[in-house]
Amino acid sequence: MMTELEGLVQRIAGKKILVVGDIIVDQFVWGTVNRISPEAPVPVVNVTKEELLLGGGANVLHNIHSLGAEAVLCGIIGDDEMGGRLQGLLQDLGASTSGLVQGKRPTTVKTRVVAQGQQVVRFDREQTGTPSETTIAAMGSFLEQNISDYDAIIISDYYKGVISKPLMEKLLARVAQVEQETGKKIPVVVDPKPDQPERFAGVTLLTPNHLEAEKMSGMRIRNTEELRVAAEIMLQKVGCQAVLITRGEAGMALLESGRELLSIPTTAREVFDVTGAGDTVIAVLAMGLAAGAPFGEAAALANIAAGVVVGKVGTATVSQEELLAVLHGEEKIETAFTSCG
Ligand SMILES: Nc1ncnc2c1ncn2[C@@H]1O[C@H](COP(=O)(O)OP(=O)(O)OP(=O)(O)O)[C@@H](O)[C@H]1O
Ligand SMILES: [Mg+2]
Repeated sequence: MMTELEGLVQRIAGKKILVVGDIIVDQFVWGTVNRISPEAPVPVVNVTKEELLLGGGANVLHNIHSLGAEAVLCGIIGDDEMGGRLQGLLQDLGASTSGLVQGKRPTTVKTRVVAQGQQVVRFDREQTGTPSETTIAAMGSFLEQNISDYDAIIISDYYKGVISKPLMEKLLARVAQVEQETGKKIPVVVDPKPDQPERFAGVTLLTPNHLEAEKMSGMRIRNTEELRVAAEIMLQKVGCQAVLITRGEAGMALLESGRELLSIPTTAREVFDVTGAGDTVIAVLAMGLAAGAPFGEAAALANIAAGVVVGKVGTATVSQEELLAVLHGEEKIETAFTSCG
């Protein structure tokens, strides 16, 4: 398995991945607090630094980029300052912004104010719900014209309105058409919010976390058997080929249609910050499938990548070198696989 995964790390570079979904700007404002406001019982923060990070689908793109593959993001930004700055960040990575559609709503921004090492407040600026007809049409025509260029498609869903049933139908119809015309099979993998699971009918694979899996399957998951049953229910409900449930410190579990549940324990050595681990999982999984790996191999690599990012502070990404270092040093991973069917 290790040598296969090493080969896979080489092969994922150079793949082209399309990320469709909700785009988020993560804004951090740092400062110091010396007094309480005379206006209200709140601290006054003297701002010393500000930073913008790519979030949501844009963080998935960042992960793909860090592993040497090319990604294009298709989603909605606003006609506003943050939309412009986000485009700048993508351009800094060398990513094309051709799939971005400027909608009639503001760019989604989550702002954290941090002082004395503590988050003082977080405020969100966003407008969710169904986008305007022109926005949906613009996304649809981008997908129509460009899907055949990609080796895999990621749906990064934060249930902010971009991923709707009509858009998914259009996307999957085009994927089917490409396969019929050229023989090219483009896997469509989804990091879902559990709402309206019928949106995902006919995709290749879903990667819900534990809570999302409970909501999508409509049952509690307290043991391996319940995990298997919940995954089975999702396979049936969505009609996909596989379900990968991410389980935080317990790693992940993969159920492929007609197979036994495969449990993949985490390889993380130390855990500092689990933010964005789900984005790393979907990014590496899609890259693995794009490179032709079976589900189990792509999932194993995604699990190793997630194990690396949780050891870093902040929403992090992982490089090919880091993955190879784990693969070289971590002989125990292979034997740690257990089938729990
Ligand atoms: N505490 C942890 N210890 C070890 N590994 C972890 C931990 N948390 C997450 N991971 C790794 O990251 C993967 C994804 O994490 P998780 O199941 O929390 O997804 P998520 O809830 O979708 O994350 P996100 O907050 O990014 O959406 C796990 O499958 C595991 O490999
Ligand atoms: Mg998640």
